[in-house]
Amino acid sequence: MASLTVRQLDEALKKQLRLRAARNGRSVEDEVRTILRGAAAEGDAQPAAASKPGAPSPRRATLAAGTKRVLLIVGGGIAAYKSLDLIRRLKERGIAVRCILTKAAEHFVTPLSAGAIAGERVFTDLFNPAGEFDVGHIRMARETDLVVVAPATADLMAKLAGGLASDLATAVLLATDAKILLAPAMNPRMWANKATQRNLAQVIADGVALVGPNSGEMAEAGERGTGRMAEPLEIAAAVEKLLGAGKAAQPLHGKRVLITSGPTHEPIDPVRYIANRSSGKQGHAIAAAAAAAGADVTLISGPVNLPDPFGVTIVKVETAREMLQAAECVLPVDVAIFAAAVADWRVTNAGAQKIKKKLGQATPGLSLTENPDILASIAKRKSQRPKLVIGFAAETENVAANAKSKLVTKGCDWILANDVSAASGVMGGDRNTIQLVTAKGIEPWPPQTKDDVAAMLVAHIAAELEKK
Ligand SMILES: Cc1cc2nc3c(=O)[nH]c(=O)nc-3n(C[C@H](O)[C@H](O)[C@H](O)COP(=O)(O)O)c2cc1C
Repeated sequence: MASLTVRQLDEALKKQLRLRAARNGRSVEDEVRTILRGAAAEGDAQPAAASKPGAPSPRRATLAAGTKRVLLIVGGGIAAYKSLDLIRRLKERGIAVRCILTKAAEHFVTPLSAGAIAGERVFTDLFNPAGEFDVGHIRMARETDLVVVAPATADLMAKLAGGLASDLATAVLLATDAKILLAPAMNPRMWANKATQRNLAQVIADGVALVGPNSGEMAEAGERGTGRMAEPLEIAAAVEKLLGAGKAAQPLHGKRVLITSGPTHEPIDPVRYIANRSSGKQGHAIAAAAAAAGADVTLISGPVNLPDPFGVTIVKVETAREMLQAAECVLPVDVAIFAAAVADWRVTNAGAQKIKKKLGQATPGLSLTENPDILASIAKRKSQRPKLVIGFAAETENVAANAKSKLVTKGCDWILANDVSAASGVMGGDRNTIQLVTAKGIEPWPPQTKDDVAAMLVAHIAAELEKK
């Protein structure tokens, strides 16, 4: 075993080593031993070809085979606190996360908290000798499967659009050949600003992917509009979709899935309509989960106040008849899931103009006729019937019995029955309790979030398609 004399190294390298050793609380000799041990282990774990020019980027030796790595750049916005939850969500999915915090981000979250959740050292400074010696910005840019910027500030988007590399985050963004996913977050006026929109168009043209921003309440009191960062679960789904490769990670890869979601609006006149309390949360969650599982998803949505799920083709409709027509246009598909709460009736005598209230005259009567039954129409098709047709039964009483008879009358394969009585809080809420009704019987699912219901349904669908 050859011995190594630190004294024989050049001054600059010795200085870097001393700095690094001091930072890690080790003697210089121990630091050198640690570096050598790491380098030897890494050399063992990497095929020789990986270091040849043109070879695929090397991955960290410490990662188990097949583990994907995300480089998360946290920008300096209020939504930075959500990036801590995002780290957790990504780790739950078996994804390794390395973080870079911009200088501005450090005002909102600390490297300590991000590092503790990621389980890895956090990087903040391009000119930090220890960081540069340890991993280095070029290696950081190469040793990742995906770069995620969340929150992506207006400033980071401008720098990315302009190709600036003035700090660690932007240098890495410029040096990476991995796909980049931005989760923009900013004040609605900053988002709508022509400069931001110009930068947005540029980064999209450069092939950068986007999730969000969403619309709604902003962190600043009284502010509403578009600019809220997508929720961590939405970003995690987008990450899974972008990372997803291989059948194991993508159980619905290559499958076409049609999903309807939300209510329908049936006009009474140009300003009034018949509707119901469906929020679309369950249908949209299923669309997001199916897309994350690799499916080619078309979501036909009635009027909802929800962001479009990442990576799905969305068709927006108002009435039941429009929804049926849109569904027929999407065929053929492997799986069709009808989660929309379609109005059973529409008004036959809808006014072409606003119906006026006239003093002393009788109230106008509404004449109703049945809407087409979208679930039954698709389930009973002679041609292009999807392999799996799944309906929802929103019931307020006799949930299981009504769902069982619906399975037969509609001709579908599965019914997801849920209790939508006011006391259940399902309509508009975030949780759901499902009973899966099939020809074989009833499978009660535990009370869970609508996202978890979606994930469970996708797993059941994947298992069923395997059998077919
Ligand atoms: C309290 C506070 C909140 C901020 N929130 C945002 C934000 O949500 N989005 C944004 O683009 N900029 C926001 N900024 C401005 C950025 O912090 C500023 O543009 C900074 O230079 C961004 O640096 P970075 O892009 O390197 O992270 C905020 C600033 C402050 C003081």
